[in-house]
Formats: sequence, C-alpha cells, structure tokens
Amino acid sequence: MSDGLEDVVAAHTVLSEVDGAAGRLVMRGHSLDELAGHTSFEEMAALMLDGFVPDLPAMKDLPAALGAARAELFETVVRKAAVPTTLGPVEMIRAMTALIPDGEDAGTVLRLLAAPAVFTAASLRLQRGLAPVAPDPALLQAADTLRMLHGKAPTLQQAAALDTYLVTVADHGLNASTFASRVVASTRAGLVSAVLAGISALKGPLHGGAPGPVIEMLDAIGTPGNARAWLEAALDRGDRLMGFGHRIYRVRDPRADALKGAIRRLGADSGRLALAEAVEQAALAILRERKPNRTLETNVEFYTALLLEALGFTPDSFTCVFALGRTTGWLAHAKEQIAGGRLIRPQSVYVGPQPRQAA
Ligand code: ACO
Repeated sequence: MSDGLEDVVAAHTVLSEVDGAAGRLVMRGHSLDELAGHTSFEEMAALMLDGFVPDLPAMKDLPAALGAARAELFETVVRKAAVPTTLGPVEMIRAMTALIPDGEDAGTVLRLLAAPAVFTAASLRLQRGLAPVAPDPALLQAADTLRMLHGKAPTLQQAAALDTYLVTVADHGLNASTFASRVVASTRAGLVSAVLAGISALKGPLHGGAPGPVIEMLDAIGTPGNARAWLEAALDRGDRLMGFGHRIYRVRDPRADALKGAIRRLGADSGRLALAEAVEQAALAILRERKPNRTLETNVEFYTALLLEALGFTPDSFTCVFALGRTTGWLAHAKEQIAGGRLIRPQSVYVGPQPRQAA
C-alpha cells in the first residue's frame, strides 16, 4: 500500500525510462539529447509506435497520412461540431476528440495523433471569434499547427522550436496521464477513450496544467527584483510554486534545459528569459531553505511556459499543446498495454464501518 502509488511498479515498458536520480530520460533507446532538436513530431511518433501498429504508414508516408487525417478531422469535426466556446481550450479539444469513433486500428491512431493539432488551433481561433483555418496536408504537423493557429506560415525556427517541445514531452514513464490511458486501454474501451483519459488527467495543475500558472506567476512578479518577496509570500500562503518539484526527479528535470535551449535558438524576448531565470534562481534558493530535506528542482513546465508563450499560444492552451506531444506516448502505452492483454485492477483496503451484527 502506498499513497499516490509512489514506488509501485505497475508495468514493464519498452517505451521510456526516467532515471530520477541521474536526471536522465531515455525514449526507445535514445537519450533526450539525441532526440530533442533533431527529430520531427512525425519521426518521434514513428519511433514510439514502432512495432505496435502494424498498418501504420512507414515513416516516408507518415507526414502525408497525418496531413490527410488533419484534413479529415477539420471537415468531419471542426466544421460540424458545435462545441461551446465558453469551455476552456482543454475542454474544447476533449469534447472534439470525443467525437472521433473509437477503435484500435491504424486509422484511429492517425486521427488521434492529428486531433490535438487541428482542435487546439481551431479552439483558440473560435474563442477569439475568428474562423478556423483549414490544415495544409503538405506541411509537417508542427508547422501546420502554427499555421492553423496564426493564419500564416511560421518561420523554420518557430516550427523547429515546436517540434523540439513536442518531442521533449512525447513520453515520460508511468506519469499520471499515461497511467490513466493504460488503465482505460486495458479494459479494451478503445484508443479514443484512452486518449480522453490522458487529456483529463493531464489538465490538472499538479501535472500538465502547471505552465499556465507559471505565466501568471511571472506576470505577477514583473521584475527580477520582486522575485524573492513574491515567492516567499506565495509559500507563506501555502501555495506551491508552479514549475518546481517532481515525483521522480531528485535533480533538475533534463527536459527543462532541452526547452531552454529551444527558447534561446528561437531568439525569443531576452528580457522575458532573464526574468524567468531570476525567478527560477530565487525559487530554487527559497525551496532549498524551506524544504532542506526534499530536493525540489525546476521541472519541464517552467520553460514550457516560456517557449509556448513565445510561439503565440495563450497560457490556457499550453495543456493542449502538451497533449499534442504526449498523445504519441499515450497511444504507444495504450497499444503496449493492449498487447500485454491484462486488465489493470488493483485492490483497496476497506477502512469504513462493517454492518452491525444482528443481536
Ligand atoms: N512548491 C512548494 N512546495 C512544494 C512544491 C512546490 N512546487 N513541490 C513539492 N513541495 C513540497 C510539498 O508541499 C511537500 O512538503 P511537506 O512535506 O512539508 O508537506 C514536499 O515538498 C513534498 O511534496 P510531495 O507532495 O510529496 O511531492 P509529490 O511528489 O507528490 O509532488 C508535484 C510532485 C505534484 C509535481 C509537486 O512538486 C508540485 O505540486 N509541483 C508544482 C506543480 C507542478 O509544477 N506540476 C508539474 C509537474 S511536471 C509534470 O507533471 C509534467
């Protein structure tokens, strides 16, 4: 018995390994350094799903197949669905994803890989009162996502920065959303259901919902000189500092530096990066003082916030972009779980009252 299943091993996987003591992430035999900045979304999807989806198009045909899936979803879901724009972007993409017919075949995999790209861009435009922009199936998915969002082609650097982000977050062991996806897949409910479970788990602020609040924190702090006082006051209120701490890492999350590198290569606002670095240093110092027995380091969400902001995503949509990257991992884990064939069904210890014995 372990609250939060800490230290419980619940799956064998060939997909990724998170070494929390060394700060190392391996995905399908490749270190994060080898992949981030060198791999497209499509190449990463092909790598993660290799051997799990027999009918998935080979890498040379995958960009066109994904482009066709984006075009299909735009026609069948975005043009037809009346999803209320009063929902937040994550709820909007979840509602649109729920309209995809469930299944476990290659067509469903392609639709689910394409879905968050089409639905995130469409949701954000609809919320601003703008018409959604149809996909360009000839583009790679990262470039097309930015094009559908902004209505104009991104620069090569912007598309490369988004690819770096999507690859960096593609998979990460048995995190909460991936576990949720595996549980649902184990019941044979279908891959759409498994991805919906992943999105639902991801949106919480203790998991993939943290980067939006990171922006609120940076905006509230405003200048490096305010960082220490603001952070101390937040901790005095009992708040957690978003973008810090991790269940597995006891050292710095290696994804933080992969993303910081992407921000630098993008040539994003240097003042914003300087503020973030000052806040990060202040937060780490204060967390060391206040929690000397617990190593709390920067996690992936801190620089996610800066990178996605620089690419023009609004803070409330950061989790949607995370879902776009992590869908690759959810699908691979769901397929791996299905291949193993075992229903996930742990036990609980009943600590409530027993029925009264008849006198
Ligand atoms: N700020 C302040 N204190 C913290 C933080 C933080 N960010 N993280 C942990 N702590 C404190 C806890 O309050 C706790 O203190 P206590 O022992 O005095 O009660 C102690 O450190 C240990 O915390 P746990 O809750 O055991 O850590 P856990 O492994 O359960 O939590 C988590 C990990 C949820 C990520 C946590 O660090 C947190 O809430 N961080 C902020 C939210 C965040 O950045 N989430 C994104 C995570 S990355 C991802 O999911 C993609």
